[in-house]
Amino acid sequence: MPINVVLGLQWGDEGKGKIVDKLSDEADVVVRFQGGANAGHTVYYNGNEIKLHLIPSGIIHRDTICLIGNGVVFDPEIFAEEISVLNGYGIKCPGKLFVSKRAHLVFPFHKEFDGYFEEYKGKGSLGTTKRGIGPAYTDKYRRMGIRVGDLYDDELFDSRLKTLVDYYNKMFVNVFEKDAINYRRVRNHFINYKNLLKRYVKDTEEMLYNFQQEGKNILMEGAQAALLDIDYGTYPYVTSSNTTLGAVFTGAGVSPFEIKNIFGVTKAYTTRVGKGPFPTEFSDKPFEKDFRKKAGEFGASTGRPRKCGWLDLVALKYAVKMNHVNKLIITKLDILTGLEEISACTSYGSGDKEIDNFPSETFEVENVKPIYTKFKGWEEDISKINRYEDLPDTAKKYIEFIENYIGVDVFILSVGKKREDIIYRHK
Ligand code: GDP
Ligand code: IMO
Ligand code: MG
Repeated sequence: MPINVVLGLQWGDEGKGKIVDKLSDEADVVVRFQGGANAGHTVYYNGNEIKLHLIPSGIIHRDTICLIGNGVVFDPEIFAEEISVLNGYGIKCPGKLFVSKRAHLVFPFHKEFDGYFEEYKGKGSLGTTKRGIGPAYTDKYRRMGIRVGDLYDDELFDSRLKTLVDYYNKMFVNVFEKDAINYRRVRNHFINYKNLLKRYVKDTEEMLYNFQQEGKNILMEGAQAALLDIDYGTYPYVTSSNTTLGAVFTGAGVSPFEIKNIFGVTKAYTTRVGKGPFPTEFSDKPFEKDFRKKAGEFGASTGRPRKCGWLDLVALKYAVKMNHVNKLIITKLDILTGLEEISACTSYGSGDKEIDNFPSETFEVENVKPIYTKFKGWEEDISKINRYEDLPDTAKKYIEFIENYIGVDVFILSVGKKREDIIYRHK
């Protein structure tokens, strides 16, 4: 049985949560493999909107096993909150949700550091989610991190935490001129999670290996997106993990030979939250404001307004290439309804040249001028359409232009928030 992967192709919030929920109909296991609670994935359950940050979007399916892999930075506070929200909707997690012993822990001081460091950088700040992601991954890679499994070895946990708190206090007091934190308080607060987590903590890599042997259908749920990837994104305006295909192998331990579909998700337009270049951002600010409102483009994690703009096909083609996407998924097509004219960026003006590749230098991305191809819009409400042939011709023209430009077929078109608001283009 196959492993399918869902990855974001823009700067996040493409609707991965909805797509993973839909594709979970056929999955036995859904796995998060990178990122942390910086993600905000929206799903609908019995008409209720649920925003998931850490727990895989497959959780609302009764029989789907959900794993949080070793590549994730794991915040027990948010995990506990999410379990209780799900519980409130009658969704039970024990027995079907597991977190890797190898996942690194996010502590409250990581989140504080995230905020202080943004403040410290001033104009050079990134606009992070302040979920402690950068600091937790930094500790992992400089080999100072504490892993979920370490919670169950008191001596080791205490000594590692002491070292860590000591280091953070030096930074807080001497560099950021903030108050020190109290080791005992952190320890006691954290130790509370030990019991709560016990039933969820597992060697998920071993579990996943066995699931592969048993031929289970496995779905990998990406968080963030290609242009936020630490290597391939618009560095330094990126997150602190690899968000692209390779992370599936290092962040969960699946076999590359079992991968069947790499689903790349893009909106029918583009958004970005946080700082960094965004070539196709709407220059007409009142239009952007109305568009944002209509599209509901406010962060699922932080509530921040998302910057909005036209679809950037140059960036999209690059993201498709870096992820080896074989099936494209386009969401929020319904949002474009009612626009007289729609634009998509098909090349960039860079200095006196016209280019159609996405530059590796972020300063170059900052300075490109988008060159647009224009399309006629449509007036008809498309949100209840389930068959491709029923779409207005102008909408089909837009979609087919994207397919031709990118060179990959569209598998799914999403035309609304709900699971059933979907059109299979090529199944
Ligand atoms: P994710 O981070 O990629 O999972 O995306 P988010 O959940 O942060 O943001 C996507 C938003 O768009 C959510 O509010 C979804 O409910 C909504 N959404 C997803 N697909 C569609 C769609 O096709 N049409 C509309 N109108 N909304 C959608
Ligand atoms: P989902 O999974 C959109 C952005 C932040 C900031 C940058 C670094 O919902 O698509 P971080 O807190 O990761 O250190 O912030 O990355 N960012 C996201 N933007 N969607 C997300 O996740 C994001 N996760 C991080 O806004 O610009
Ligand atoms: Mg999101």
